[in-house]
Amino acid sequence: MRYSDEIIEQVREANPIADVIGSYIHLERKGANLFGLCPFHGEKTASFSVSPSKGMYYCFGCHAGGNVISFVMQYENQTFQEAVQTLAERAHIALPEARETDEERRVRDRKTRLLDVQKDAAVFFHRLLFTPEGARGLEYLTRRGLTKDTITSFGLGYAPASQDRLYRYLKSRGYEDGLLKDSGLVRFSDRGVRDYFWNRVMFPIMDANNHVIGFGGRVMGDGEPKYLNSPETPIFDKSRNLYGLHAAKRSRRAEFLICEGYMDVISMHQAGFTNAVASLGTAFTEQHGNLIRRYVRNVILTYDSDGAGVNAARRAIPMLRSAGLSVRVLNLRPHKDPDEFIQAEGAEAFQERIDNAINSFLFEIDVLGRDYQLQDPEEQTAYYREVARRLAVTFEEPQERDIYTKACARQIMVSYENLRNLVNAVGASRAAEQPSTRPSQEGNSRRATRREKLQEADKTMQRLLLTVLCEDPERLPAAEEYLTPEDFSGELYQAMARAVFEAARTGHVEPASLMNPFLESDDAEEASRVFNTRYDQELTGRQRDQAFYEAVLSVKQQSVAALDADPQADFAKILSERKKLDSLKKKLSQMGGR
Ligand code: UTP
Ligand code: MN
Repeated sequence: MRYSDEIIEQVREANPIADVIGSYIHLERKGANLFGLCPFHGEKTASFSVSPSKGMYYCFGCHAGGNVISFVMQYENQTFQEAVQTLAERAHIALPEARETDEERRVRDRKTRLLDVQKDAAVFFHRLLFTPEGARGLEYLTRRGLTKDTITSFGLGYAPASQDRLYRYLKSRGYEDGLLKDSGLVRFSDRGVRDYFWNRVMFPIMDANNHVIGFGGRVMGDGEPKYLNSPETPIFDKSRNLYGLHAAKRSRRAEFLICEGYMDVISMHQAGFTNAVASLGTAFTEQHGNLIRRYVRNVILTYDSDGAGVNAARRAIPMLRSAGLSVRVLNLRPHKDPDEFIQAEGAEAFQERIDNAINSFLFEIDVLGRDYQLQDPEEQTAYYREVARRLAVTFEEPQERDIYTKACARQIMVSYENLRNLVNAVGASRAAEQPSTRPSQEGNSRRATRREKLQEADKTMQRLLLTVLCEDPERLPAAEEYLTPEDFSGELYQAMARAVFEAARTGHVEPASLMNPFLESDDAEEASRVFNTRYDQELTGRQRDQAFYEAVLSVKQQSVAALDADPQADFAKILSERKKLDSLKKKLSQMGGR
């Protein structure tokens, strides 16, 4: 379902970006642009800029950026469609009924009906909790310290000890068997129909927009499994949702607290930490990281303090980092999980632990120490050396490295001077390049990070080239002499390249309009960086030429390297591409570039 491109453009143009953003935050004019405090990350100096002429905003601090539609999406947590509707309303534009195929309508209707079933089931479970039949459930939750308010606001409930009460209730509400089967709430077999959840306290799981999409059900007391979760359905995707998100997104805190359990989320919310979320009985994925990144830049892991929890944290850290989140880890010891901690020590003590949460680098150093026999002097030295190596390879910026060296020295109880000398020695001998002699998982992840850095550098050149073409569309023929959009790497960059090439051919590029199609994807931010980067205006004509051809060369080189590495690639194509690359190199050397 989509509005036509013309309508989207009409809505965008009817909403001057400075007016719209100015209605949310205070902006001050400085020259051609307006500046204010960025609403997407905490800051004290105004690094958030709005360019009325470009129709774009950009934050120099957190790199949030885009056009007026993406601003509303980000600020209001709306989808692209919703943001277009919001802005149409603001400008009094009547939107046509969105174009929708029969198939799309069928899928949407089915999803709506599946959501209706879940909602009705949630109401059924919740009401039952306050009847004599549900008294056991209410007593269980109360015994676990939950107040009536908390129970109501999370919509907790009770699934009866009955074969098919829920099924009969939902039938009486008019749902057909096929739909109920897909809802995951009932099971059909030769022996008849059975409710999926039986004699459990029920935790409805809501998506970011307050729709119930599934349930977790806990046995009261012992029993297996402790928690039973709804199976995945067309509306319940565990890797794209988090328990507690509907409330956490409104907490307007600078960070989210990430924990492992339903009860942990609820306990934290009840204690005032309304920014807590948990994954849904599955491991943390990068998609979870991206989801969180829509709301905050920082997370604190409050995983269980047992071995499983520490391992879960170790696995989650790289996912969260690669989603661009800064990660800290909270120490719950001697308690097991946040729920138990808060029951035992209260909210104030928990806040103290939040304040003392350590950066994930220091957490990893701490965990690493458990692999060494630290009483043995040789092992101790090996550990210090490994810590030094990690400091040397992780932090390239001397000041940052120094701060971490100090913090590590304190943590592992070695003198700062000794550790610093070790770090310098490691750095000087370039031992940083080699994986440590001691077998550790770090070797692999370091290599991955170096590869990531390379990829990041590749992308920078691709972005630069697209930016240049946006600003100087007349350079398109020169670029096309060597490149097609297929030379860019990855779907996103190829799609952006196609859009920019096509627009440049008309001689006029309007970035704010070009980026519309990308706002609906997970890549909105990456795309906005392309359309917001400026290349240095101070460059002389010759330098600009050279920068342009350097970028073309870099993109072509990556593309040819990928082709070389592809066993399926056509040999004739490899040869002709190599020829283009050679002539491009020649051209650059004539310019005096290399
Ligand atoms: P835990 O076993 O740590 O339980 O599971 P908990 O959250 O502390 O629960 P209480 O305090 O005993 O009630 C953490 C999470 O793992 C998933 C659930 O999402 C749970 O909240 N889980 C656990 C399951 O999905 N199934 C299980 O059988 C157990
Ligand atoms: Mn628990």
